Amino acid sequence: MIRVGIVGCGYWGPLHVRVFGQAGDAAVTWACDLNPNRLEHIAAQYPEVRTTRDLNELLAADIDAVVIATPAGTHAPLAIRAMEAGKHVLVEKPLATSTSEAHAMLATAARTDRRLMVGHTFIYHAAVRTLRDLIHGGELGELYYLDSKRVNLGLHRKDVDVTWDLASHDVAILRYLLGEDPSAVAATGAAFHNPEVPELAYLQFSYPSGVLANLHVSWLDPLKVRQMTIVGSRRMVVWDDVATDGKLKLFDKGMARAPYYDDFGQWQVAYRSGDGQDVPFDFAEPLKLEAQEFLSAIQARREPLTGGAEGLAVVQALENAARVMHVQRALALPRAG
Ligand SMILES: NC(=O)c1ccc[n+]([C@@H]2O[C@H](COP(=O)([O-])OP(=O)(O)OC[C@H]3O[C@@H](n4cnc5c(N)ncnc54)[C@H](O)[C@@H]3O)[C@@H](O)[C@H]2O)c1
Repeated sequence: MIRVGIVGCGYWGPLHVRVFGQAGDAAVTWACDLNPNRLEHIAAQYPEVRTTRDLNELLAADIDAVVIATPAGTHAPLAIRAMEAGKHVLVEKPLATSTSEAHAMLATAARTDRRLMVGHTFIYHAAVRTLRDLIHGGELGELYYLDSKRVNLGLHRKDVDVTWDLASHDVAILRYLLGEDPSAVAATGAAFHNPEVPELAYLQFSYPSGVLANLHVSWLDPLKVRQMTIVGSRRMVVWDDVATDGKLKLFDKGMARAPYYDDFGQWQVAYRSGDGQDVPFDFAEPLKLEAQEFLSAIQARREPLTGGAEGLAVVQALENAARVMHVQRALALPRAG
């Protein structure tokens, strides 16, 4: 039996309390939050879980592992404290808010011989695994580009901008699908309410294989959209994660240039415009699969599928994007007159 403590019981932490309770040979025995209201919320739903505002009390307790679901800027110091106290750690995404922090976390995990895992939840999503199978099975042909839109109204965060919050998902998904890290990035963002925290961003990543990826993330959009399109030479696929059914659609669409032509007027293309076909997949709750992977990695003393190195690679890509991002700050712009 692996005893787990949850640190951070805001919006996301309580979901970890639930899934670890259902994940198999594990029990959530402690929960910690600075906010007593959030602890009351946990105590009301899970009276068997002991609660504390003091992280030292949780770390001194008889637990084997800690899940950290606090704001991103606190991930590194809290995870390092937990590993130093002998606990295995699952940290919510993003692993950290800088590569230097992420390196320190990996070094602590190695020195203390603890498992360090990052909550890249979408890697445990059956649609993402099916996309990977389609790509690697050659179904899409040569990969041309990916386009992802992850937008909705809110939830504005204070300590990280929209790229660290939302694009962290897409960068992790792309890494899993393509098996490579970006070689170049261009980025534009905009801040409308807090000049320090862009809430809209367009990121373009180029990969060594030649694949291009365009990411659009926003906390300021009237619609909740979670859509990724992948275009290949043979087929195209669209994943719509908020669709009620038919979330994955494969299209036999494409374009081929005629093999020869005499002048520009004879430039010919042949379009294939076949119908979209639903691609079925067996859905299981990704967060529960993530919890099971963490427990299995602890038991087998092996690296988890989304270990510290995956977290570091995503942090590196986001840090590179932040470094080159041109941010339009609406509030900060001087106005004529
Ligand atoms: N994997 C996903 O799909 C997913 C989804 C949502 C959020 N998240 C991640 O989960 C984390 C938490 O997000 P959230 O939306 O729940 O935020 P939140 O603000 O709702 O909750 C954070 C909680 O942490 C508590 N806290 C802050 N500092 C603390 C400390 N030092 N010790 C103990 N408690 C502390 C706060 O009081 C608050 O209750 C973030 O890193 C976020 O990126 C991941």
